[in-house]
Amino acid sequence: MHRKSATDFSISGKTDLDLLLEFIRFRSVSTKPDHAPDMRACAEWLCRLLSSNGFAAELADTGGHPAVVARGPEVPGKPTVLIYGHYDVQPEDPAEEWTTPAFEPAIRNRRVFARGATDNKGQILAHVLGAIHTLREEGTLPVNLIFLIEGEEEVGSTNLDDFIRARRTDLRCDVIAVSDTGMVAENYPTLTQSLRGIAAMEVIVRGPSTDLHSGIFGGAIVNPATALVGILARLHDHHGRVAVPGFYDDVVPPDAAERAALAKLPTTDSDYLRETGAPALGGEEGYTAMERIGLRPTAEINGLTSGYQGAGTKTVLPSVASAKLTFRLVPNQKPDRVLNLVEIHLQNLLPRGVEMEVIRGHGGMPYVVDLKSPWTAAALRALETTFGREPALVREGGSIPIVQSFRELLGTDTLLLGLAAPDCKAHAPDENFPIESFEAGIRLHRALLKELAASY
Ligand code: BES
Ligand code: MN
Repeated sequence: MHRKSATDFSISGKTDLDLLLEFIRFRSVSTKPDHAPDMRACAEWLCRLLSSNGFAAELADTGGHPAVVARGPEVPGKPTVLIYGHYDVQPEDPAEEWTTPAFEPAIRNRRVFARGATDNKGQILAHVLGAIHTLREEGTLPVNLIFLIEGEEEVGSTNLDDFIRARRTDLRCDVIAVSDTGMVAENYPTLTQSLRGIAAMEVIVRGPSTDLHSGIFGGAIVNPATALVGILARLHDHHGRVAVPGFYDDVVPPDAAERAALAKLPTTDSDYLRETGAPALGGEEGYTAMERIGLRPTAEINGLTSGYQGAGTKTVLPSVASAKLTFRLVPNQKPDRVLNLVEIHLQNLLPRGVEMEVIRGHGGMPYVVDLKSPWTAAALRALETTFGREPALVREGGSIPIVQSFRELLGTDTLLLGLAAPDCKAHAPDENFPIESFEAGIRLHRALLKELAASY
Protein backbone atom coordinates (compact mmCIF):
# COMPACT_ATOMS: atom_id res chain seq x y z
CA MET A 1 0.00 0.00 0.00
CA HIS A 2 1.18 3.52 -0.75
CA ARG A 3 2.20 5.24 2.44
CA LYS A 4 2.70 8.95 2.91
CA SER A 5 5.72 10.20 4.82
CA ALA A 6 5.43 10.45 8.58
CA THR A 7 5.07 14.21 8.42
CA ASP A 8 2.21 14.13 5.93
CA PHE A 9 -0.95 14.31 7.94
CA SER A 10 -3.49 13.99 5.21
CA ILE A 11 -5.04 10.78 6.50
CA SER A 12 -5.07 8.88 3.22
CA GLY A 13 -2.86 5.86 3.59
CA LYS A 14 -3.28 5.82 7.34
CA THR A 15 -6.10 4.05 9.10
CA ASP A 16 -7.89 5.53 12.09
CA LEU A 17 -6.11 2.98 14.23
CA ASP A 18 -2.68 3.94 12.80
CA LEU A 19 -3.39 7.52 13.84
CA LEU A 20 -4.48 6.50 17.33
CA LEU A 21 -1.28 4.53 17.84
CA GLU A 22 0.80 7.49 16.63
CA PHE A 23 -1.02 9.83 19.01
CA ILE A 24 -0.52 7.47 21.94
CA ARG A 25 3.24 7.08 21.40
CA PHE A 26 3.87 10.65 22.57
CA ARG A 27 4.83 10.53 26.25
CA SER A 28 2.62 13.49 27.04
CA VAL A 29 2.75 13.31 30.83
CA SER A 30 1.77 16.79 31.98
CA THR A 31 2.84 16.48 35.61
CA LYS A 32 6.50 15.66 34.88
CA PRO A 33 8.57 18.72 33.87
CA ASP A 34 11.05 16.68 31.80
CA HIS A 35 8.21 15.61 29.50
CA ALA A 36 7.55 19.19 28.34
CA PRO A 37 9.12 18.50 24.88
CA ASP A 38 6.87 15.42 24.46
CA MET A 39 3.87 17.55 25.38
CA ARG A 40 4.70 20.11 22.72
CA ALA A 41 5.42 17.46 20.07
CA CYS A 42 2.09 15.81 20.81
CA ALA A 43 0.18 19.09 20.58
CA GLU A 44 1.98 19.91 17.30
CA TRP A 45 1.01 16.52 15.90
CA LEU A 46 -2.66 17.17 16.72
CA CYS A 47 -2.45 20.65 15.30
CA ARG A 48 -1.00 19.36 12.01
CA LEU A 49 -3.57 16.58 11.77
CA LEU A 50 -6.37 19.14 12.07
CA SER A 51 -4.81 21.84 9.90
CA SER A 52 -4.05 19.46 7.05
CA ASN A 53 -7.63 18.21 7.10
CA GLY A 54 -9.78 21.27 6.74
CA PHE A 55 -9.47 22.97 10.12
CA ALA A 56 -7.94 26.31 10.99
CA ALA A 57 -5.78 25.01 13.83
CA GLU A 58 -3.56 26.85 16.24
CA LEU A 59 -1.10 25.80 18.92
CA ALA A 60 -2.11 28.23 21.62
CA ASP A 61 -0.01 29.39 24.54
CA THR A 62 -1.84 29.07 27.84
CA GLY A 63 1.02 29.96 30.16
CA GLY A 64 1.41 26.23 30.82
CA HIS A 65 1.35 23.34 28.37
CA PRO A 66 -0.03 24.50 25.00
CA ALA A 67 -3.62 23.93 23.95
CA VAL A 68 -4.81 23.08 20.45
CA VAL A 69 -7.66 25.25 19.19
CA ALA A 70 -9.15 24.36 15.82
CA ARG A 71 -12.11 25.64 13.91
CA GLY A 72 -14.02 23.92 11.10
CA PRO A 73 -15.47 25.71 8.10
CA GLU A 74 -18.13 28.28 8.84
CA VAL A 75 -21.69 26.97 8.50
CA PRO A 76 -24.08 29.93 8.61
CA GLY A 77 -27.34 29.42 10.45
CA LYS A 78 -26.10 26.39 12.35
CA PRO A 79 -25.16 26.10 16.02
CA THR A 80 -21.58 26.34 17.23
CA VAL A 81 -20.43 23.19 19.02
CA LEU A 82 -17.21 23.06 21.03
CA ILE A 83 -15.60 19.69 21.61
CA TYR A 84 -13.23 19.63 24.56
CA GLY A 85 -10.66 16.95 25.35
CA HIS A 86 -7.11 16.56 26.60
CA TYR A 87 -3.91 15.18 25.11
CA ASP A 88 -2.04 15.00 28.42
CA VAL A 89 -1.93 11.72 30.32
CA GLN A 90 -1.17 10.46 33.80
CA PRO A 91 2.29 9.08 34.63
CA GLU A 92 2.85 5.44 33.69
CA ASP A 93 3.98 4.58 37.23
CA PRO A 94 4.33 1.89 38.40
CA ALA A 95 5.98 1.10 35.03
CA GLU A 96 6.92 -2.47 35.99
CA GLU A 97 3.26 -3.43 36.47
CA TRP A 98 2.43 -3.05 32.78
CA THR A 99 2.14 -6.20 30.63
CA THR A 100 3.65 -4.22 27.71
CA PRO A 101 5.30 -0.77 28.01
CA ALA A 102 2.91 2.10 28.65
CA PHE A 103 3.89 4.16 25.61
CA GLU A 104 4.30 1.29 23.16
CA PRO A 105 0.69 0.55 22.32
CA ALA A 106 -0.09 -3.16 22.00
CA ILE A 107 -3.27 -4.77 20.74
CA ARG A 108 -4.71 -7.72 22.63
CA ASN A 109 -8.31 -8.96 22.46
CA ARG A 110 -9.22 -6.11 20.11
CA ARG A 111 -8.16 -3.56 22.71
CA VAL A 112 -5.36 -1.01 22.55
CA PHE A 113 -3.24 -1.19 25.73
CA ALA A 114 -1.31 2.01 26.50
CA ARG A 115 -1.29 5.05 28.77
CA GLY A 116 -3.89 7.49 27.46
CA ALA A 117 -5.65 4.91 25.25
CA THR A 118 -8.95 5.69 26.99
CA ASP A 119 -8.09 8.79 29.03
CA ASN A 120 -8.29 10.73 26.83
CA LYS A 121 -6.50 10.15 23.52
CA GLY A 122 -8.80 7.45 22.14
CA GLN A 123 -11.92 9.37 23.05
CA ILE A 124 -10.86 12.80 21.77
CA LEU A 125 -9.33 11.36 18.59
CA ALA A 126 -12.65 9.65 17.82
CA HIS A 127 -14.23 13.11 17.70
CA VAL A 128 -11.41 14.57 15.61
CA LEU A 129 -11.57 11.70 13.10
CA GLY A 130 -15.37 11.76 13.03
CA ALA A 131 -15.19 15.40 11.98
CA ILE A 132 -12.37 14.82 9.46
CA HIS A 133 -14.26 11.93 7.82
CA THR A 134 -17.42 14.01 7.58
CA LEU A 135 -15.50 16.86 5.96
CA ARG A 136 -13.81 14.55 3.46
CA GLU A 137 -17.00 12.73 2.54
CA GLU A 138 -19.46 15.59 2.62
CA GLY A 139 -17.27 18.64 2.07
CA THR A 140 -18.88 20.35 5.03
CA LEU A 141 -19.87 19.85 8.67
CA PRO A 142 -23.44 20.07 10.01
CA VAL A 143 -22.41 22.67 12.62
CA ASN A 144 -19.76 25.29 13.32
CA LEU A 145 -17.20 23.16 15.10
CA ILE A 146 -14.46 24.20 17.51
CA PHE A 147 -11.96 21.78 19.05
CA LEU A 148 -10.28 22.77 22.30
CA ILE A 149 -7.78 20.08 23.27
CA GLU A 150 -5.67 21.00 26.25
CA GLY A 151 -2.55 19.65 27.93
CA GLU A 152 -3.24 20.20 31.62
CA GLU A 153 -6.44 18.33 32.45
CA GLU A 154 -4.61 15.73 34.51
CA VAL A 155 -3.01 18.48 36.60
CA GLY A 156 -6.18 20.42 37.29
CA SER A 157 -6.46 22.67 34.17
CA THR A 158 -4.94 25.49 36.24
CA ASN A 159 -4.19 27.78 33.27
CA LEU A 160 -7.28 27.07 31.21
CA ASP A 161 -9.74 29.29 33.09
CA ASP A 162 -7.67 32.40 32.30
CA PHE A 163 -7.18 31.23 28.72
CA ILE A 164 -10.93 30.85 28.23
CA ARG A 165 -11.57 34.20 29.87
CA ALA A 166 -9.12 35.87 27.47
CA ARG A 167 -10.68 34.11 24.46
CA ARG A 168 -14.25 34.40 25.59
CA THR A 169 -15.51 35.86 22.27
CA ASP A 170 -13.56 33.43 20.15
CA LEU A 171 -14.78 30.40 22.07
CA ARG A 172 -18.41 31.48 22.25
CA CYS A 173 -20.56 28.46 21.47
CA ASP A 174 -24.05 27.03 21.91
CA VAL A 175 -23.11 23.73 23.47
CA ILE A 176 -20.01 21.78 24.49
CA ALA A 177 -19.44 18.03 24.21
CA VAL A 178 -16.86 16.00 26.10
CA SER A 179 -16.03 12.30 25.87
CA ASP A 180 -13.89 11.74 28.96
CA THR A 181 -16.15 9.68 31.20
CA GLY A 182 -17.32 6.08 31.42
CA MET A 183 -19.99 3.71 30.13
CA VAL A 184 -21.93 1.52 32.54
CA ALA A 185 -20.84 -1.50 30.51
CA GLU A 186 -18.78 -1.89 27.33
CA ASN A 187 -20.77 -0.46 24.42
CA TYR A 188 -23.67 0.49 26.69
CA PRO A 189 -24.57 4.07 25.71
CA THR A 190 -24.15 6.30 28.74
CA LEU A 191 -24.74 9.96 29.43
CA THR A 192 -22.99 11.26 32.52
CA GLN A 193 -25.34 13.30 34.65
CA SER A 194 -22.86 14.63 37.17
CA LEU A 195 -19.18 14.87 38.01
CA ARG A 196 -17.64 15.45 41.40
CA GLY A 197 -15.49 18.46 42.16
CA ILE A 198 -12.02 18.17 43.64
CA ALA A 199 -9.69 19.93 46.05
CA ALA A 200 -6.04 18.92 46.42
CA MET A 201 -3.48 19.58 49.15
CA GLU A 202 -0.16 18.33 50.42
CA VAL A 203 0.50 18.12 54.15
CA ILE A 204 4.09 18.21 55.39
CA VAL A 205 4.92 17.48 59.01
CA ARG A 206 8.39 18.44 60.23
CA GLY A 207 10.16 17.53 63.45
CA PRO A 208 13.92 17.35 64.11
CA SER A 209 16.20 19.24 61.72
CA THR A 210 17.66 16.01 60.27
CA ASP A 211 16.92 12.29 60.33
CA LEU A 212 18.03 10.82 63.68
CA HIS A 213 19.14 7.45 65.06
CA SER A 214 15.88 5.96 66.33
CA GLY A 215 17.67 4.24 69.23
CA ILE A 216 19.64 7.22 70.41
CA PHE A 217 16.73 9.67 70.16
CA GLY A 218 13.56 7.61 69.73
CA GLY A 219 11.17 7.98 72.65
CA ALA A 220 12.26 11.50 73.49
CA ILE A 221 11.47 13.19 70.17
CA VAL A 222 8.07 13.30 68.47
CA ASN A 223 8.22 11.20 65.29
CA PRO A 224 6.78 13.22 62.34
CA ALA A 225 5.60 10.04 60.60
CA THR A 226 3.67 8.95 63.69
CA ALA A 227 2.25 12.46 64.05
CA LEU A 228 1.17 12.54 60.40
CA VAL A 229 -0.54 9.15 60.36
CA GLY A 230 -2.22 10.08 63.65
CA ILE A 231 -3.87 13.15 62.20
CA LEU A 232 -4.65 11.45 58.89
CA ALA A 233 -6.36 8.62 60.75
CA ARG A 234 -8.81 11.22 61.98
CA LEU A 235 -9.91 12.35 58.53
CA HIS A 236 -12.71 9.77 58.87
CA ASP A 237 -14.88 8.58 61.75
CA HIS A 238 -15.83 4.98 62.49
CA HIS A 239 -18.86 5.21 60.20
CA GLY A 240 -16.77 6.03 57.16
CA ARG A 241 -17.84 9.67 57.22
CA VAL A 242 -15.37 12.49 56.75
CA ALA A 243 -14.69 13.75 60.29
CA VAL A 244 -13.62 17.28 59.33
CA PRO A 245 -15.99 19.64 61.20
CA GLY A 246 -18.18 21.53 58.73
CA PHE A 247 -17.28 19.25 55.80
CA TYR A 248 -20.90 18.28 55.13
CA ASP A 249 -22.42 21.71 55.92
CA ASP A 250 -22.99 22.61 52.26
CA VAL A 251 -23.86 19.10 51.07
CA VAL A 252 -27.46 18.55 50.06
CA PRO A 253 -28.33 14.94 50.99
CA PRO A 254 -29.32 12.86 47.93
CA ASP A 255 -33.07 12.62 47.47
CA ALA A 256 -35.08 9.42 47.11
CA ALA A 257 -35.54 9.90 43.35
CA GLU A 258 -31.78 10.19 42.75
CA ARG A 259 -31.12 7.08 44.79
CA ALA A 260 -33.89 5.16 43.03
CA ALA A 261 -32.48 6.12 39.62
CA LEU A 262 -29.04 4.83 40.58
CA ALA A 263 -30.50 1.62 41.98
CA LYS A 264 -31.99 0.84 38.55
CA LEU A 265 -28.60 0.79 36.81
CA PRO A 266 -27.09 -2.59 35.97
CA THR A 267 -23.97 -1.96 38.11
CA THR A 268 -23.98 -3.58 41.59
CA ASP A 269 -21.67 -3.65 44.58
CA SER A 270 -20.31 -7.02 43.49
CA ASP A 271 -19.25 -5.52 40.14
CA TYR A 272 -17.06 -3.09 42.09
CA LEU A 273 -15.59 -5.95 44.09
CA ARG A 274 -14.78 -7.89 40.95
CA GLU A 275 -13.34 -4.91 39.06
CA THR A 276 -11.11 -3.72 41.88
CA GLY A 277 -9.96 -7.00 43.37
CA ALA A 278 -10.43 -5.53 46.87
CA PRO A 279 -11.31 -8.06 49.61
CA ALA A 280 -14.41 -6.05 50.62
CA LEU A 281 -16.04 -2.71 49.90
CA GLY A 282 -15.85 0.14 52.38
CA GLY A 283 -16.92 3.73 52.79
CA GLU A 284 -19.68 5.85 54.24
CA GLU A 285 -22.25 3.70 56.00
CA GLY A 286 -25.77 3.62 54.60
CA TYR A 287 -24.87 4.04 50.93
CA THR A 288 -24.23 1.65 48.04
CA ALA A 289 -20.91 1.78 46.23
CA MET A 290 -22.46 3.70 43.33
CA GLU A 291 -24.00 6.23 45.71
CA ARG A 292 -20.73 6.68 47.57
CA ILE A 293 -18.99 7.37 44.28
CA GLY A 294 -21.65 9.39 42.49
CA LEU A 295 -23.46 11.29 45.22
CA ARG A 296 -21.21 11.61 48.25
CA PRO A 297 -18.06 13.61 48.96
CA THR A 298 -14.86 11.90 50.09
CA ALA A 299 -11.38 12.39 51.52
CA GLU A 300 -8.55 10.31 50.03
CA ILE A 301 -4.86 9.89 50.76
CA ASN A 302 -3.15 9.65 47.35
CA GLY A 303 0.42 9.36 48.56
CA LEU A 304 2.29 8.99 51.80
CA THR A 305 6.03 9.49 52.23
CA SER A 306 8.42 9.32 55.16
CA GLY A 307 11.54 7.63 56.42
CA TYR A 308 13.33 4.66 54.95
CA GLN A 309 11.62 2.97 51.97
CA GLY A 310 14.43 0.74 50.69
CA ALA A 311 15.17 -2.96 51.15
CA GLY A 312 15.65 -4.36 54.66
CA THR A 313 15.51 -2.16 57.72
CA LYS A 314 16.96 1.14 58.79
CA THR A 315 16.53 2.40 62.33
CA VAL A 316 15.75 5.99 61.62
CA LEU A 317 13.58 8.66 63.14
CA PRO A 318 12.62 10.67 60.05
CA SER A 319 12.77 14.44 60.15
CA VAL A 320 9.76 14.87 57.83
CA ALA A 321 6.63 13.07 56.71
CA SER A 322 4.24 14.15 54.00
CA ALA A 323 0.97 13.16 52.42
CA LYS A 324 -0.86 14.10 49.23
CA LEU A 325 -4.60 14.41 49.75
CA THR A 326 -7.60 15.02 47.52
CA PHE A 327 -11.21 15.60 48.43
CA ARG A 328 -14.00 14.81 45.97
CA LEU A 329 -16.82 17.30 46.22
CA VAL A 330 -20.52 17.29 45.44
CA PRO A 331 -22.78 20.21 44.50
CA ASN A 332 -22.60 23.27 46.75
CA GLN A 333 -19.22 22.33 48.22
CA LYS A 334 -16.40 24.72 47.29
CA PRO A 335 -12.75 23.66 47.02
CA ASP A 336 -11.34 26.63 48.97
CA ARG A 337 -13.77 26.27 51.83
CA VAL A 338 -13.13 22.54 52.09
CA LEU A 339 -9.35 23.08 52.18
CA ASN A 340 -9.77 25.72 54.88
CA LEU A 341 -11.80 23.32 57.02
CA VAL A 342 -9.35 20.47 56.53
CA GLU A 343 -6.36 22.62 57.39
CA ILE A 344 -8.00 23.80 60.63
CA HIS A 345 -8.98 20.23 61.56
CA LEU A 346 -5.49 18.83 60.99
CA GLN A 347 -3.82 21.77 62.75
CA ASN A 348 -6.08 21.25 65.77
CA LEU A 349 -5.13 17.58 65.98
CA LEU A 350 -1.39 18.08 65.51
CA PRO A 351 0.64 17.06 68.59
CA ARG A 352 3.21 19.39 70.13
CA GLY A 353 6.78 18.74 68.98
CA VAL A 354 6.13 18.88 65.23
CA GLU A 355 5.11 21.58 62.77
CA MET A 356 2.76 21.33 59.85
CA GLU A 357 2.88 23.03 56.46
CA VAL A 358 0.04 22.81 53.94
CA ILE A 359 0.58 23.36 50.23
CA ARG A 360 -2.66 23.82 48.37
CA GLY A 361 -3.08 22.20 44.98
CA HIS A 362 -5.69 22.46 42.24
CA GLY A 363 -9.41 22.77 42.81
CA GLY A 364 -12.41 22.12 40.61
CA MET A 365 -16.13 22.53 41.00
CA PRO A 366 -18.67 19.72 40.70
CA TYR A 367 -21.00 19.67 37.68
CA VAL A 368 -24.59 18.60 37.17
CA VAL A 369 -26.08 18.30 33.69
CA ASP A 370 -29.35 20.02 32.81
CA LEU A 371 -31.51 17.04 31.84
CA LYS A 372 -34.27 19.26 30.49
CA SER A 373 -32.16 21.01 27.87
CA PRO A 374 -32.87 20.23 24.18
CA TRP A 375 -29.11 19.64 23.75
CA THR A 376 -29.28 16.84 26.29
CA ALA A 377 -32.20 15.32 24.38
CA ALA A 378 -30.14 15.51 21.17
CA ALA A 379 -27.19 13.80 22.89
CA LEU A 380 -29.45 11.02 24.15
CA ARG A 381 -30.80 10.46 20.62
CA ALA A 382 -27.26 10.35 19.19
CA LEU A 383 -26.25 7.78 21.80
CA GLU A 384 -29.33 5.69 21.10
CA THR A 385 -28.85 5.66 17.30
CA THR A 386 -25.16 4.86 17.62
CA PHE A 387 -25.48 2.00 20.09
CA GLY A 388 -29.03 0.80 19.36
CA ARG A 389 -30.36 0.96 22.89
CA GLU A 390 -31.67 3.47 25.38
CA PRO A 391 -28.78 5.26 27.15
CA ALA A 392 -28.12 4.95 30.87
CA LEU A 393 -27.71 8.09 32.99
CA VAL A 394 -24.89 7.89 35.52
CA ARG A 395 -23.31 10.01 38.21
CA GLU A 396 -19.55 9.78 37.96
CA GLY A 397 -17.09 10.13 40.80
CA GLY A 398 -14.28 11.57 38.67
CA SER A 399 -13.72 15.25 37.97
CA ILE A 400 -13.30 17.41 34.88
CA PRO A 401 -12.87 20.82 36.50
CA ILE A 402 -13.12 22.81 33.28
CA VAL A 403 -16.71 21.73 32.69
CA GLN A 404 -18.16 23.92 35.43
CA SER A 405 -15.75 26.70 34.39
CA PHE A 406 -17.25 26.56 30.89
CA ARG A 407 -20.66 27.19 32.41
CA GLU A 408 -19.38 30.09 34.51
CA LEU A 409 -17.08 31.69 31.93
CA LEU A 410 -18.89 31.05 28.67
CA GLY A 411 -22.41 30.44 29.95
CA THR A 412 -22.45 27.17 28.03
CA ASP A 413 -23.54 23.71 29.19
CA THR A 414 -21.59 20.54 28.52
CA LEU A 415 -22.77 17.14 27.33
CA LEU A 416 -20.76 14.26 28.78
CA LEU A 417 -20.80 11.31 26.39
CA GLY A 418 -18.16 8.95 27.72
CA LEU A 419 -16.73 5.95 25.92
CA ALA A 420 -14.58 4.39 28.67
CA ALA A 421 -15.27 0.76 29.54
CA PRO A 422 -15.64 -0.12 33.24
CA ASP A 423 -12.37 -2.07 33.04
CA CYS A 424 -10.45 0.58 31.05
CA LYS A 425 -7.91 0.91 33.90
CA ALA A 426 -7.57 4.68 33.49
CA HIS A 427 -4.65 6.06 35.58
CA ALA A 428 -3.55 2.45 36.28
CA PRO A 429 -1.23 -0.10 34.66
CA ASP A 430 -2.65 -1.77 31.50
CA GLU A 431 -4.96 1.09 30.62
CA ASN A 432 -6.83 0.04 27.50
CA PHE A 433 -9.47 1.09 24.97
CA PRO A 434 -11.54 -1.35 22.87
CA ILE A 435 -11.06 -0.72 19.14
CA GLU A 436 -14.82 -1.11 18.85
CA SER A 437 -15.36 1.79 21.26
CA PHE A 438 -12.97 3.92 19.20
CA GLU A 439 -14.95 3.13 16.05
CA ALA A 440 -18.25 3.68 17.85
CA GLY A 441 -16.89 7.03 19.09
CA ILE A 442 -16.27 8.12 15.50
CA ARG A 443 -19.88 7.21 14.59
CA LEU A 444 -21.15 8.85 17.77
CA HIS A 445 -19.45 12.11 16.85
CA ARG A 446 -21.18 12.15 13.49
CA ALA A 447 -24.58 11.28 14.97
CA LEU A 448 -24.13 13.92 17.65
CA LEU A 449 -23.37 16.76 15.22
CA LYS A 450 -26.41 15.80 13.11
CA GLU A 451 -28.71 15.73 16.14
CA LEU A 452 -27.34 19.02 17.51
CA ALA A 453 -27.76 20.69 14.10
CA ALA A 454 -31.33 19.42 13.86
CA SER A 455 -32.35 20.67 17.29
CA TYR A 456 -31.21 24.25 16.68
N1 BES B 1 -11.45 11.31 32.54
C1 BES B 1 -11.13 11.69 33.86
C2 BES B 1 -12.32 12.10 34.69
C3 BES B 1 -13.34 11.05 34.92
C4 BES B 1 -12.97 9.75 35.18
C5 BES B 1 -14.66 11.38 34.93
C6 BES B 1 -13.93 8.80 35.43
C7 BES B 1 -15.60 10.44 35.17
C8 BES B 1 -15.24 9.14 35.41
C9 BES B 1 -10.14 12.82 33.84
O1 BES B 1 -9.14 12.68 32.89
C10 BES B 1 -9.44 12.82 35.18
O2 BES B 1 -8.84 11.85 35.54
N2 BES B 1 -9.56 13.91 35.90
C11 BES B 1 -8.88 14.09 37.13
C12 BES B 1 -8.99 15.55 37.43
C13 BES B 1 -8.05 16.06 38.47
C14 BES B 1 -6.62 15.72 38.22
C15 BES B 1 -8.23 17.55 38.62
C16 BES B 1 -9.52 13.27 38.23
O3 BES B 1 -10.74 13.07 38.25
O4 BES B 1 -8.78 12.79 39.07
MN1 MN C 1 -7.70 11.18 33.76
